[in-house]
Formats: sequence, structure tokens, C-alpha cells
Amino acid sequence: MNDTVFVLNGPNLNLLGTREPRIYGSQTLADIEAMLEQRAKSLKLKLDVRQSNHEGVLVDWLQEALAKASAVIINAGGYAHSSIAIRDAVAALPIPVIEVHLSNVYAREHFRRQSMIAQVARGSVVGLGPLGYVLALDAAAHLCKGAGATQAKSQIQ
Ligand code: DQA
Repeated sequence: MNDTVFVLNGPNLNLLGTREPRIYGSQTLADIEAMLEQRAKSLKLKLDVRQSNHEGVLVDWLQEALAKASAVIINAGGYAHSSIAIRDAVAALPIPVIEVHLSNVYAREHFRRQSMIAQVARGSVVGLGPLGYVLALDAAAHLCKGAGATQAKSQIQ
């Protein structure tokens, strides 16, 4: 089994720490990455954490994950609510994809209540701040063990 998990972050998540801290907290993306690295070590997983403000780059990375990762954690930021291209790239992946949102998107503006990605992801973790990434990593480790990611995904969907 490939033991790498891709952690993909979309637009404006490079601004974490200073961006609307009332909603997104004070931890930076680097802080979250450090926390995830610690957890990954104890789970014996490798991480590849990336951030882009560009939709096509996120699509490229999702395609790259097929050869290089056993699971993907994605916070697509605002693209979660609008991007059919990212949705299709997630749907094409036979490995588990777990969606994360730091904020509780269901308790905010109406337009945030729909996620294109949630419809095709293995699962979503929403509203738990940086802890959500750690829980998603725990879930990824669990899903990648035993039966295999592809089988687990096909059993559920
Ligand atoms: C977000 C929620 C999105 O609605 C928003 O556009 C973001 C961040 C979150 O992590 O809570 O950029 O994905």
C-alpha cells in the first residue's frame, strides 16, 4: 500500500491566521500542517500538503493523487460550492477522498450549504476547525487499511 496522503487546500487558505479569524481561527496553514505531521508520524503515514488559489491546479493535483497517494484530504475553500471540475476530479478517483471545512458551512450563508464535493467524497468533516484535518487523517488511515480503499469506496457508494 502507498502510505502517502495528499492534503489539498484551495483558495485563500494560505491566509489562515489573519483571514477572518473570528470564523477561521488564528492557526496558520503551517500550524495545521505541523499538527498533521505529528499525527501522520504516529499513524505511519506520509503527508503531501499543498495549497493553491487556482482551480485547474487543484484538478491536476487530484489526478496526480491516483499514482502517488492512498487517500486525499481536501479543503477546496470556495470552490467546494462552485467547481464542477473539482467535483468530477474527485469522482474519478478510486481512492478515498475526505472533504474538510474549518467552519460550519451549514451555519453560515445559504450559498455555502451546498458542496459539490460532498456529493462524491467518501465523507466530510465540517465545522471543527483544525481538528477536522486530524480527524480526516485518522479516517484516511482507517479507510486505507485492510480491505483496501477502492473496495471500501465501492461498498458505500
Ligand atoms: C472553508 C469554507 C468555505 O465556504 C470558504 O469559502 C473557505 C473556507 C472552510 O474551511 O471553512 O474558503 O472551506
